[in-house]
Amino acid sequence: MSEVAVMSHFVLLVLHLFAAIMFAGAVFFEVLILEGIRKPVGREVMRTVEIAIGARARRLMPFVMLVLYGAGIAMAYQYRGVLAHPFSSSFALMLSIKVVLALSVLVHFITALTLSGARKLKSRHFQLIHLSVFCHVVLIVFLAKAMFYIRW
Ligand code: HEM
Repeated sequence: MSEVAVMSHFVLLVLHLFAAIMFAGAVFFEVLILEGIRKPVGREVMRTVEIAIGARARRLMPFVMLVLYGAGIAMAYQYRGVLAHPFSSSFALMLSIKVVLALSVLVHFITALTLSGARKLKSRHFQLIHLSVFCHVVLIVFLAKAMFYIRW
């Protein structure tokens, strides 16, 4: 790899990592902190908080997602040879599963945005989407690191 290619991969990786921290951090906060205060705070206040968080997320998260997926796709392009044969190695398989899970997160995200924009995002949907995205993110981060260390 040339010096320029190494530097551009480094820049993409740092952008991807910061965006992943912002996105995964928000998901972890919502599931581990926010869900834990549902009972003491009460239904009405919680609903107000969820609407306010939804409005803030709708403004900020599209930019975070753009950086996250943009940098991810640009890095994945450098692994295109590997991704063309997902069953050829443990690295190829883990990276492919990571990408599929990330696409599923995008579907969740777009569904949540559409529902909340149409004011159809009920607390139950809010909870289920967060729990599902939380599980996806845990697996994605695990695979993102495991693919470099675990081999079979
Ligand atoms: C929810 C979305 C995503 C999250 C939370 C996420 C998270 C991460 C994390 C934590 C890393 C490890 C960074 C490091 O080594 O320090 C990583 C690496 C990577 N991600 Fe993602 N990612 C997401 C979406 C995507 C997408 C959509 C793609 C491509 C289509 C992608 C492609 C990659 C690639 C190729 C690497 C390895 C880069 C390398 O070290 O060479 N990611 N991701």
